[in-house]
Amino acid sequence: MSRVRTELLRSISISIWSIAAVAGMFLVPGFLACPPALAQLSTSDHLEEPGFWPTQNVASRDQFAGAAACANCHAAKSASQKQTSMGTASLHADDSVILHAHPKMNFAVGSYHYEIKTGAKESSYSVTDGTGASNSTNATLLWAFGIGRVAQSYLFKKDDGNFYESRVTFFTNLQNLNFTPARALASPKDVAEAMYRPLGSAEIVRCFACHTTASTIGGQFDEKNLILGVSCEACHGPGVKHVAAMQAAALAGATENSAGTIVNPARLNPVDMVDFCGACHGTWWDVKFSGGKGVATARSAPFRLEESKCWGKGDARLTCIACHDPHVEVRTDPSSYDRACLSCHPASGTPKTAATHPSAHPARTKDCVTCHMPKVYDPDMHYKFTDHRIRIAHEGEAYPE
Ligand code: HEC
Ligand code: HEC
Ligand code: HEC
Ligand code: HEC
Ligand code: HEC
Ligand code: HEC
Ligand code: HEC
Repeated sequence: MSRVRTELLRSISISIWSIAAVAGMFLVPGFLACPPALAQLSTSDHLEEPGFWPTQNVASRDQFAGAAACANCHAAKSASQKQTSMGTASLHADDSVILHAHPKMNFAVGSYHYEIKTGAKESSYSVTDGTGASNSTNATLLWAFGIGRVAQSYLFKKDDGNFYESRVTFFTNLQNLNFTPARALASPKDVAEAMYRPLGSAEIVRCFACHTTASTIGGQFDEKNLILGVSCEACHGPGVKHVAAMQAAALAGATENSAGTIVNPARLNPVDMVDFCGACHGTWWDVKFSGGKGVATARSAPFRLEESKCWGKGDARLTCIACHDPHVEVRTDPSSYDRACLSCHPASGTPKTAATHPSAHPARTKDCVTCHMPKVYDPDMHYKFTDHRIRIAHEGEAYPE
């Protein structure tokens, strides 16, 4: 359906689609229709197609089994996945280890003073403009996003029942607060603006769709029943049917056949496979549509990867799962990524085949990513992201757009 639409748009200028690029707000309105294979798409286009896609709205909460059910039969994957940063991408503020480990955090800009104070249970967030008690405001934090691999941001509600994003975020590399990425304000008009940014209901739906599981049911944001973090069914789709089928088969002593009962993304073609992770990490089109530019685009691995010469028109040897197992935390040992590179760039002297590409140079036989996937510093995130645009990187070069 929407594949033709994206293909059409590819040939025309798309800058008019520019929308504010926040921590991954990649939404575009949809029109048109009809799919040829192997086309990169925007996430909103994928969501219009039939079948499961991550972040989609589902009909009923009853279709979700919950990670504890999966653990009965997939014990190893379940034990490791729930420990990952993805698995813990959101938590109730009261449960934040970061907040409890830093019972008093301060940040000051101009005359504004920010403080997050954590007691036995709750965290209280306050801002003052330094001119007296009447010019201060405070709130109890409700949600913490991110376990702190890079950062942790906070949401709270006011008496009006609406959500607000705190203007300050905890950054692991600073071990303290600083402005929330892309939200710095040099001169806020008052203490309220200094303290927060209001989040509309559409944005709340998007934040929770990427950081939790089963948060929007039948078009309604369901804060009470959502599953914390990016859990099994965020990627495998609602699992009740699969659980029932596998239990029935086990009881009957039959050979289990899971075919058709649950989504296995490994069956997607390489381009869709990358778009699949891109549902939250930002697809190539999501980044283009949002007008993303500069080092901030390094936060979108799908975008940068597909900008590499290595990617070509797509290849299963270079999808996200060729290098990452989403059920375990990202590996930091560079040599663990060599196998992926060597699957296309054989060691020098190895006979060339139709499937291989220029040989790796004879002298350098390992840790390929240390030179060819450089880390780039994103000042907004106070963090060096891995540039997934594989290339010959030169010392001191500008970030290649
Ligand atoms: C009663 C045991 C049982 C439970 C509970 C269970 N599974 Fe499975 N699952 C299996 C078995 C057995 C297979 C392998 C069947 C096969 O090889 O066709 C399987 C296969 C799968 C596959 C691969 C499917 C494919 O077609 O390649 C996925 C993905 C999966 N399970 C995810 C889940 C998730 C997510 C949950 C929780 C919502 C879950 N499972 C709960 C028994 C279970
Ligand atoms: C439902 C949304 C969602 C989907 C789908 C998703 N991710 Fe993520 N991913 C996140 C969020 C949110 C984070 C940030 C978590 C944090 O650091 O707090 C993240 C972090 C990561 C990280 C770094 C931290 C870690 O846990 O290792 C890797 C690697 C990663 N994702 C890979 C993948 C791959 C590969 C896929 C596709 C198979 C994928 N993601 C699909 C939401 C998603
Ligand atoms: C389109 C999906 C998407 C939306 C919407 C989204 N995020 Fe994220 N977020 C991610 C992914 C993927 C990552 C990991 C990659 C990165 O750091 O950019 C992430 C990372 C983060 C991190 C850093 C966590 C860490 O340590 O890696 C914070 C904090 C965060 N998001 C907060 C938010 C907040 C608050 C909102 C809503 C106001 C939001 N995000 C909306 C997908 C999303
Ligand atoms: C971020 C997305 C993501 C999350 C979250 C996730 N998976 Fe997966 N899962 C995948 C992908 C992609 C594959 C296919 C590649 C692979 O086998 O790793 C997969 C494959 C599987 C398979 C088939 C493995 C095989 O050997 O054939 C099972 C079973 C499974 N997942 C269970 C789970 C369970 C249980 C959870 C929750 C504890 C979970 N997954 C969470 C993305 C995810
Ligand atoms: C799917 C196959 C495939 C994989 C996997 C792959 N590459 Fe490539 N790579 C290519 C192709 C194709 C080219 C373009 C060759 C050409 O220009 O003829 C290329 C080009 C390159 C170049 C030259 C780029 C330039 O800017 O001129 C480098 C360096 C490189 N690859 C390194 C790597 C490293 C390191 C890895 C692992 C992190 C890797 N590749 C993984 C297929 C792949
Ligand atoms: C050729 C191997 C390779 C492929 C393919 C790949 N990654 Fe990575 N990725 C890495 C390496 C290497 C790191 C850095 C690990 C470290 O040292 O922390 C990394 C780190 C990450 C991180 C952590 C944040 C950061 O920037 O360091 C995220 C999130 C991530 N990858 C997501 C993805 C997604 C989504 C895809 C698919 C579009 C993908 N990766 C494809 C090699 C790869
Ligand atoms: C110490 C840094 C370093 C390491 C480690 C490294 N490379 Fe390179 N690579 C380079 C540089 C620099 C070039 C540019 C040409 C040159 O100097 O040989 C290059 C060039 C390449 C090219 C392009 C060759 C061509 O003919 O177009 C490929 C492919 C490549 N590297 C793959 C790899 C693979 C695969 C690995 C891991 C087995 C690897 N490199 C490890 C620095 C490195």
